[in-house]
Amino acid sequence: MTYETLIVETVGRVGLIRLNRPKALNALNSRLAEELRQAFAQFDQDDDIGCVVITGTDRAFAAGADIKEMAPKSFIDTFKANYMANWDSPARSRKPSIAAVAGFALGGGCELAMQCDLIIAADNAKFGQPEITLGIVPGLGGTQRLTRALGKAKAMDLVLTGRMMDAVEAERCGLVSRVVPLDKLMDEAMKAAETIASMWLPAVMTAKELVQRAHELPLAEGLRFERRAFHAMFGTEGQREGMAAFLEKRPPRFDEL
Ligand code: CAA
Repeated sequence: MTYETLIVETVGRVGLIRLNRPKALNALNSRLAEELRQAFAQFDQDDDIGCVVITGTDRAFAAGADIKEMAPKSFIDTFKANYMANWDSPARSRKPSIAAVAGFALGGGCELAMQCDLIIAADNAKFGQPEITLGIVPGLGGTQRLTRALGKAKAMDLVLTGRMMDAVEAERCGLVSRVVPLDKLMDEAMKAAETIASMWLPAVMTAKELVQRAHELPLAEGLRFERRAFHAMFGTEGQREGMAAFLEKRPPRFDEL
């Protein structure tokens, strides 16, 4: 598969996707969204991939949806095409993903990062939902995921003013998992991805689904769903190997399963 707007590679058991429209600060257009869908589909089907990392450049993870593409559109255009309905590949993927964010993560860029399961930010990262300054509102989950991640106070502040938030504030309010110096960003993200990818993949996929459900289900339903999934782990080769390894005081060999 040849990609125009992405650089896609495999590093061990990690799928690495680099957004590659640097002149437009990696603005997300329909082509890029379709290529992301294909890259994620490829990694989802590959048993040798255990985690995906998405990143941009030092200057921009992504500065939002492409304003040049959006500017001429009418309501009817967007409604008929169900515009952006499929621009949620990391959230749809059954495998975990990490957004390694340096520079601008604005609008659709912030929303893409939030669709990933972890955000690791460089100390120069800037997050925001500036759609309001363009006379529109977020359309890739910004109002929903930001509110669930940060609560109403911060979400309203960001969505209504369009201001940017630096990496320290983003970590303080729970949007990002870790902040690291810019020159350590990829090492840290790849190390985290390799750790995740070294676990037993069915347990990883189940764990991702369970945490995602915490956003969607009432607590009692979520707890019931978790218990069923927990019970279903017993007797699996992953549980046998993981617990035997602990009892035999050796590292688990999930890669051999
Ligand atoms: N769409 C298209 N092109 C973009 C872009 C975007 N979202 N963001 C930046 N670019 C382009 C600029 O047009 C410019 O291209 P040219 O050199 O051809 O003019 C190039 O990237 C560099 O940008 P700047 O010269 O503006 O760089 P800067 O350092 O002065 O400013 C910035 C950086 C603050 C990020 C500024 O570019 C900016 O404000 N960008 C737009 C951010 C934005 O509003 N994002 C939300 C988009 S709407 C959305 O995402 C909807 C949704 O919910 C899905």
